[in-house]
Amino acid sequence: MSSRQIKMGVIQFVFLFGFLWLNIVSLCSGGITSKYVRKQASVDIPKQVFSSPPGHNAPEQVHITQGDHAGKSLIISWVTPVEKHNNFLIYWEAEGEHKHKHRVHSVTTTYQYYNYRSGYIHHATLKRLQYDTKYFYEIGIGNVKRQFSFTTPPEVGPDVPYTFGIMGDLGQTYDSNQTFHHYLSNPIGQAVLFVGDLSYADDHPFHDNEKWDTWGRFIEKSAAYQPWIWTAGNHELDFAPEIGEHVPFKPYMHRYHVPYKASESTSPLWYSIKRASAYIIVLSSYSAYGKYTPQYSWLEKEFPKVNRSETPWLIVLLHSPWYNSNGYHYMEGESMRVMFESWFVKNKVDLVLAGHVHSYERTERISNVMYNITNGLSTPVKDPSAPVYVTIGDGGNIEGIADRFTQPQPSYSAFREASFGHAILEIKNRTHAHYAWHRNHDNQAMEADSLWLYNRYWYPKEEKSTGADMV
Ligand SMILES: *[C@@H]1O[C@H](CO)[C@@H](O)[C@H](O)[C@H]1NC(C)=O
Ligand SMILES: *[C@@H]1O[C@H](CO)[C@@H](O)[C@H](O)[C@H]1NC(C)=O
Ligand SMILES: *[C@@H]1O[C@H](CO)[C@@H](O)[C@H](O)[C@H]1NC(C)=O
Ligand SMILES: *[C@@H]1O[C@H](CO)[C@@H](O)[C@H](O)[C@H]1NC(C)=O
Ligand SMILES: [Fe+2]
Repeated sequence: MSSRQIKMGVIQFVFLFGFLWLNIVSLCSGGITSKYVRKQASVDIPKQVFSSPPGHNAPEQVHITQGDHAGKSLIISWVTPVEKHNNFLIYWEAEGEHKHKHRVHSVTTTYQYYNYRSGYIHHATLKRLQYDTKYFYEIGIGNVKRQFSFTTPPEVGPDVPYTFGIMGDLGQTYDSNQTFHHYLSNPIGQAVLFVGDLSYADDHPFHDNEKWDTWGRFIEKSAAYQPWIWTAGNHELDFAPEIGEHVPFKPYMHRYHVPYKASESTSPLWYSIKRASAYIIVLSSYSAYGKYTPQYSWLEKEFPKVNRSETPWLIVLLHSPWYNSNGYHYMEGESMRVMFESWFVKNKVDLVLAGHVHSYERTERISNVMYNITNGLSTPVKDPSAPVYVTIGDGGNIEGIADRFTQPQPSYSAFREASFGHAILEIKNRTHAHYAWHRNHDNQAMEADSLWLYNRYWYPKEEKSTGADMV
């Protein structure tokens, strides 16, 4: 058969089995481009499916996040749709002697967006919690009382195991639902690192802010029970001067609070936390980061604060990827890479997690920091001090899959695949962490791309990919 005939045969095969998933793996420049492409469009779940819980003014959209730098505080947020009351919660330790019930009042806010008026958005901060302890909490009174629980992280320390889920660009489609339930069905995740683009409300007329409410109800099943660590993406901007909305991040910043002051940040859009053995820095791709700007100055002072003897794992979350070989959003992260990459290499960041591109990609450890405008050294090179970059904007939102990878696959790209999924990062101790990406189609035990990550500070050995699809 000529190559043209083979190509026609492949096209017929794709046509005949158009609704099935294809799993053809090709090797290119050492990296792997998996041809496992999902063809169906992503359709939003109708708003009425995410209905409010029953009862007058019942608290809804409950979500939690870390409330301080080291994990002894927690921010609990919820919405009461019609009245401000129920602006407090009760919490208590699940086990042991201290069944004393604590009452905490919330800070309450509302906002207006074009023709939409929000419910009462509550944020309560629980302080001086015990480490590694299960608590119950209760919001609402009488017949609209709702109970939830959470477990605080273990005390920060170098060999403390901890498991993070990783999701991005989630939205609220049937695909989003699959990603989300897939993560839920795996009980090992203790907190979620969310790399931005939450509800995709802005893809609807007048940025239909009811979609922010439905999204809050959608994620509650996880976010009310384990902290989601938030990163702002472009879909959080909601900047729409044509309808009189001039304030960037208005719905997002009203609804999702983060402990930015605890890391001496001046904005909720960039901050850091310590959790177990990880130090997590969150950056904003959509805020100024040039020299002398608040974000730049903050990050410059942030790196020296990281003590790898205390938190060996240094992880950065941001939205727009620096190393993306997909045609979608190609090089959008470049200006931020130019500003900060040398700091990441110098400080041996272990892992950089980004979203934005609705596909999955993982890089080799590479850097591109030699270039100055006269020397011509502008090609990424292998670098054992460099992070692994993961692009995981594959939550499954309404915009569909980003399936136009650039050809040939650049040598820095270790694995890339145009399908939806989530990842799990299991930190074992100061040297080893197991990372695995799960595509939605597979069952939970199946890891489409996985490897042991070796800590850059304690054990800077070269890693070997062992993904199920690696051939
Ligand atoms: C979301 O996924 C769960 C688990 O598979 C399923 O039970 C539920 O019906 C799905 N929701 C919708 C709206 O499809
Ligand atoms: C770094 O952390 C270790 C372990 O907690 C501690 O002993 C050491 O004093 C810290 N170093 C600095 C400079 O704070
Ligand atoms: C640019 O790079 C070249 C080659 O590495 C070096 O000799 C030169 O000093 C650099 N220029 C500046 C301004 O740093
Ligand atoms: C760290 O964890 C890895 C993977 O579980 C294990 O092989 C290794 O022995 C551990 N190191 C120490 C010092 O316990
Ligand atoms: Fe995005």
